[in-house]
Amino acid sequence: MILLSAPMAGVSDRPFRLLAREFGCDMTFTEMISAKALSFNNRKTEAMLKAYPDERPLSAQFFGREPNRLAEAVKAAVCAGFAAVDFNMGCPAPKIVKNGEGSALLLEPSTAARCVEAMAKAAGGRMPFSVKIRSGFSAGRVNAVETAHMLQECGAGSITVHPRVREQFYSGHSDWDIIRRVKEAVRIPVIGNGDIHTPEDAKAMLERTGCDGVMIARGALGNPWIFARVKAFLRDGISPREPDIAERMATAVRHCRMLTEFKGSLGLLESRKHAAWYIKGSEGAAAARNSINKALCLHDIEEILTRLGSRASF
Ligand SMILES: Cc1cc2nc3c(=O)[nH]c(=O)nc-3n(C[C@H](O)[C@H](O)[C@H](O)COP(=O)(O)O)c2cc1C
Repeated sequence: MILLSAPMAGVSDRPFRLLAREFGCDMTFTEMISAKALSFNNRKTEAMLKAYPDERPLSAQFFGREPNRLAEAVKAAVCAGFAAVDFNMGCPAPKIVKNGEGSALLLEPSTAARCVEAMAKAAGGRMPFSVKIRSGFSAGRVNAVETAHMLQECGAGSITVHPRVREQFYSGHSDWDIIRRVKEAVRIPVIGNGDIHTPEDAKAMLERTGCDGVMIARGALGNPWIFARVKAFLRDGISPREPDIAERMATAVRHCRMLTEFKGSLGLLESRKHAAWYIKGSEGAAAARNSINKALCLHDIEEILTRLGSRASF
């Protein structure tokens, strides 16, 4: 069983990944990276394609629809020292789909096949190559099993299935039965993804689908402990306790510090959303969130989080 921290645009940057790793996940992913922007030497995109030795195994996730650009992106990832590459065939965002990328490729199997063949060839057996899909584009066009077959034939080394259709975006519940059907249909490893928020959810997905590993996205927002808790539950069968408020806030402070250290003023701004995830559901969360959104420096954010951690009032 492999436990993965999902690729998340705007979230799975180095600080997020380092914490996920520290708390026990086996592998992390970059935010999705545009193969096209990379080919135009876009500076921001190039900065995302940075592999750090202390993050191995880190996978670079690409999106695009042009086989040659995608192959070049894979080669760049090999050169940069990534441990693996992933192809995004699941993104539902309108700006991606309107370009025929992400989940739009579920509607174009022959284009998708050419992209996957080109990427597999560029990876050349030198590094693991995975593809991440949804169950289909719309309720009437659920084609995960056919897509998975095609991906296997085109050289994908493993497949991650997020069993929602594109038109659902992130609403409703994922249909884990589709993960099971994909697993039964292919020889390559299948990773299950969707709605894992507790250790019990992870165990249930593994049991119900037979998948080879699980990937957690939203369940890890402000909650890197989920990885350690899943691991412990699968090992011992005992549900580990949740971290208390002091522990949560201490990690939130650390996360905000790392964001500011690695990303400067952008990191400070991004600290707001991460801090909001860490404090969600705790007493005094609304007031603390308001204060954090007005904070002008890291020190102020740290103070608010620390005060919340000691349960002092605002
Ligand atoms: C904020 C956010 C950003 C995401 N960005 C990506 C991405 O860049 N690449 C990708 O393959 N999936 C992306 N996803 C989808 C997740 O990886 C995952 O498939 C989905 O959220 C379902 O898993 P969950 O129920 O554990 O959240 C994103 C999801 C969220 C919530």
